[in-house]
Amino acid sequence: MQNIETYQKSFIAYLEDFAVDKEPKNLYEPVNYILKLGGKRLRPVLTLMTSEVFNGNANDAMNAALSVEVFHNFSLIHDDIMDDAPLRRGQETVHEKWDLNTGILSGDAMLILAYQLFENYEPATFQALAKLFSKTALEVCEGQQYDIDFETRHDVTIPEYLKMIEYKTAVLVGAAMKMGAIVAQASLEDQNAIYDFGRYLGIAFQLQDDYLDAFGNPETFGKQVGGDILENKKTYLYLKTLELGSPNDRSKLVEIMSNDMISNEEKITSVKTLFNDSGASHATQKAVKDYTRKAFELLKTLNISDDKKQVLKLFGEQLMNRRV
Ligand code: IPE
Ligand code: IPE
Ligand code: MG
Ligand code: MG
Ligand code: MG
Repeated sequence: MQNIETYQKSFIAYLEDFAVDKEPKNLYEPVNYILKLGGKRLRPVLTLMTSEVFNGNANDAMNAALSVEVFHNFSLIHDDIMDDAPLRRGQETVHEKWDLNTGILSGDAMLILAYQLFENYEPATFQALAKLFSKTALEVCEGQQYDIDFETRHDVTIPEYLKMIEYKTAVLVGAAMKMGAIVAQASLEDQNAIYDFGRYLGIAFQLQDDYLDAFGNPETFGKQVGGDILENKKTYLYLKTLELGSPNDRSKLVEIMSNDMISNEEKITSVKTLFNDSGASHATQKAVKDYTRKAFELLKTLNISDDKKQVLKLFGEQLMNRRV
C-alpha cells in the first residue's frame, strides 16, 4: 500500500497524459480545462487504494480510476449548469467560461470517454466494470433529478433526501472502490462490502458538502458559498431546520426562501442564522459522524489485514474533517 499523496501524484501524472489537445478545440478544451482544474481526486484515489487493499496493483487500476474521475467531472459540468453555479474549484464554471451548449456537449463527450477507458481491460473485467458503471451512472441521473424536483417541493422528507444523496453522490464513491476491487479480482463478498463502505462514506461526504456549502470559507471552498440556499436546495440543513426549529424559525425559513425582495447576501445570512439557531448545523455535523461510523462498522466484515483497515479508516476520517 502507498500513502494517499502518492496515489494522488501518480493519478495526476496519468491524467495529464490523457488530457491532451485535440480537435475540435471547442469540444476538447473544456474537457481538459475541468479535468486539470484540480479537485481532491478523492474517487480515483479510492479506486487505486482499493485495488491494493485487495492485493492488486494500482497501475492496473489506473484506467478505471481515470474513468471514474472523468465521469465525476462530466457530472460537475452538467451539475453546474443545473445549479446555475458560477464557480468550480475557485475558477469559472465551464458554462460561464464558454457557454451552455459547450457545457452540454463537452459533458456528453466526457461521459463517452469515461466508458471508452474500460476498453483497456480484458473482456471479463470490462464487462464487470461496464455493468457497474452503467448502473451507477443511471442512479446518478436519478439522484440529480430528485435534487432538482425537490427545489420546488415543500414536503421533502429526510428519508427522501437520504435516497437523493445516496444516488447523486454516494453510489459513485461506492462504485469507485468496487472498481478497484474488481480489477484486483477480489471476491464478490469483498466487492460488495467495500461498495457499501464507500456508499456510507459517500453519504457522509454529501452531508458535509451541504454543510460546507453554507458554512465553508469563501476564500478556500472554491464554490459559491450559499449557492444551495439561493437555489432552494432541500439540504439536510434545511430539512433539519424545519424539523428542529421553533414554529417561528420554520415559518421564517419558508418565508425567506420564497422572498424575492431581499438581496442574496441578506438571504444567505438570515438562513444561516436559522440553520444555527435551530440546531440544524449541529445535527448535520452529527449526521456526518454517524454515517462515517456506519462505514467503519463495515470494515469489520472485510477479509483484509488490520493495517489496511487502518488506511481506509484514516481516509474516512480525513474526509469527515475536510474544509473543501
Ligand atoms: C463535488 O465533489 C460534488 C459532490 C458530490 C459534492 P468533490 O467535492 O469531490 O469535488 P472535487 O472533485 O474535489 O472538486
Ligand atoms: C453534486 O451535488 C452531485 C453531482 C455532481 C452528481 P452538488 O450540486 O451538491 O455538488 P456541488 O456542491 O455543486 O459540487
Ligand atoms: Mg452543484
Ligand atoms: Mg447539484
Ligand atoms: Mg453541494
